[in-house]
Amino acid sequence: MTEETVGKPVLCVGCTVIDFVTITSSYPKEDTDRRCLDGFWQRGGNASNVSTVLGVLGSKVDFFGMLSRSDAFRVLLEDLRRRNIGTSHCPQTDKDPPFSSVILAQDSGTRTIIHCNKNYPQVTWEDFKKIDLTRYGWVHFEARNVAETSRMMQSIVEHNRNSGERIIISLDFETLYEQNLKLCYPCDYVVFSKELASQKGWKSPKDTCEFLAANLSLQGTLKPPVIICPWGSAGAVCLDASGNYHELPPYKPKQVVDTLGAGDSFMAGFIYGTHVHKWDLAEAVDFANRVASHKINKFGYDHIGELRLA
Ligand code: FRU
Repeated sequence: MTEETVGKPVLCVGCTVIDFVTITSSYPKEDTDRRCLDGFWQRGGNASNVSTVLGVLGSKVDFFGMLSRSDAFRVLLEDLRRRNIGTSHCPQTDKDPPFSSVILAQDSGTRTIIHCNKNYPQVTWEDFKKIDLTRYGWVHFEARNVAETSRMMQSIVEHNRNSGERIIISLDFETLYEQNLKLCYPCDYVVFSKELASQKGWKSPKDTCEFLAANLSLQGTLKPPVIICPWGSAGAVCLDASGNYHELPPYKPKQVVDTLGAGDSFMAGFIYGTHVHKWDLAEAVDFANRVASHKINKFGYDHIGELRLA
């Protein structure tokens, strides 16, 4: 990374949705009628949350995803604007935005998400190619929409080859292993979810790094990406292309109040540590653990600003 690249904004590519959050003392029993403790709604979605946390940590950040002209979406746009998260490249649709119904159970600390996305359109390579990539130092993707996302990544690879500048590519890999695997190849960093590991039957974070690395090398990647695997309350591990493996212990939260978006906060903490502060891999993953743990002490994301470094 050059000095010039480090100071450049991060571009987060993916979805923004409305999260309707209900806070309950315990997870509700099916077919009962009860009151919640409290509730609120906020802008959500993986790349959208990563943008929010990068912003509160003090990083320059733009979001690239499909925006909606519907009335319901206006508040999300206002929130993006208020936080100085750039959206100038985003296409717009008349369709209603996706939303998630979220239950935060206070006794167990769980967050249960039911996501509703009625074929909401996604951004395409045609939209992406209009972006002046020289503005960015890092582009972060959600693992979705493989054909279009692959082409977007390829544009960055070509940019890196032709411009002498290097834009870092990261991927948040949470779903659909077989379909999304090919998105890992052009990446510098892949953050692989515990939930997807358990779907694959991979029992430990170390196994997960090793199985994923083996699957990638079987497919013949020239330089495999760094694999990072957050493992909930057990901390996180990472494996680099030379085979160096690190285990980073967790930070114990003071209290477990709101685990919604803890993974997205981890992701943002990692990007911030690596891109803005140029920390080495283990240091950046350690900070990501700290951000994820701090996030769950309180509702929402603004308090993460307490971890912001000068
Ligand atoms: C949390 C989150 C929520 C959103 C859901 C989408 O990681 O981004 O904000 O509702 O996941 O799957």
